[in-house]
Amino acid sequence: MGLSTSASEKGGIGGVFIIAAISFLILLRKEKKKTRQFYEKNGGHTLEKAKFIKLFEKERLKPIFKSSNFIGKGGFGEVYKGILDNEPVAVKKPISGSVLENEQFANEVIIQSQVIHKNIVRLIGCCLEVEAPILVYEFLCSGSLDDILHGKNKVPLNLGVRLSIAAESADGLVYMHSKTNIKILHGDVKPANILLDEKFVPKISDFGISRLIARDKHHTGSIIGDMSYMDPVYLQTGRLTEKSDVYSFGVVILELISRKKATHSEGSSLVINFLEAYKKERKATHLFDKEIIATEDLEVLDSLTGIAVECLSLDVDQRPSMTDVFNRLFILNQSHKSQLVCEL
Ligand SMILES: *[C@@H]1O[C@H](CO)[C@@H](O)[C@H](O)[C@H]1NC(C)=O
Repeated sequence: MGLSTSASEKGGIGGVFIIAAISFLILLRKEKKKTRQFYEKNGGHTLEKAKFIKLFEKERLKPIFKSSNFIGKGGFGEVYKGILDNEPVAVKKPISGSVLENEQFANEVIIQSQVIHKNIVRLIGCCLEVEAPILVYEFLCSGSLDDILHGKNKVPLNLGVRLSIAAESADGLVYMHSKTNIKILHGDVKPANILLDEKFVPKISDFGISRLIARDKHHTGSIIGDMSYMDPVYLQTGRLTEKSDVYSFGVVILELISRKKATHSEGSSLVINFLEAYKKERKATHLFDKEIIATEDLEVLDSLTGIAVECLSLDVDQRPSMTDVFNRLFILNQSHKSQLVCEL
């Protein structure tokens, strides 16, 4: 009797084990099938043929998503810092199920992977094996222009650095507006979307796909973006043009010279204060950041204010193009530099 009981027990345990193993295998297959389906839905076949884009397996990205790597959260989702192929990367993970059409996503990725410019954050690759594709960008170690202008640890920023940041960011936007096969509008130009590398070289970020996904999440048609930087003409018409980016860039210039945040609140704002001061006396000296007011630089600062004011014109046709803005900033940047050399 005792013997047979133990045999049936053994059989029972063996049975449980087999069932568990089979369930596990079934789960594994299901998981694999899902991974494959996501990959195909997200345009994997189209993207396999793209030259400049890496396709990462989700297993490779998994270790990156831990709280110690978390660096921020935006309209798009969460951003983590990691290292892939010996290169520091910023990995953007959408909050939840984005429902972009597969071909649209694949096309955007291809367009963006061809945007290669020293002042634009580079898209390195993506992971398609999950419901909402994960995007992998180059990582920039100095944070955003918003951080360094208004963050807790205020770094000293002389006029030369600020001019250079303005000119180079403009260069990135010129490239997006006029040097790519398809004109790319940013739609949310602001200091938080201008990232800086270790030498404070600025790179434009958060356009294209990440914007598409964010837009999708908030339902098409609604305007997303920061009101403090938003072109009022765009708000009225709902039609985004390159002149909307020019307007927002004007606000960025004002922040660079005042080191004040362009918060949008009734009655008073950085933009209104500047426009009024400029209308009255064609300068806005009292609004300049004390750190950069040196008598010999007032002329440069007035020119900068002048450019910003033109960008902020409510008459869209009066606004300069991004190319104009860049050319003028470039000259200011050069002349300031040669002035420094003369002083030495
Ligand atoms: C601006 O000047 C700095 C040096 O002060 C230089 O490194 C930088 O390349 C210049 N930028 C542009 C866009 O001319």
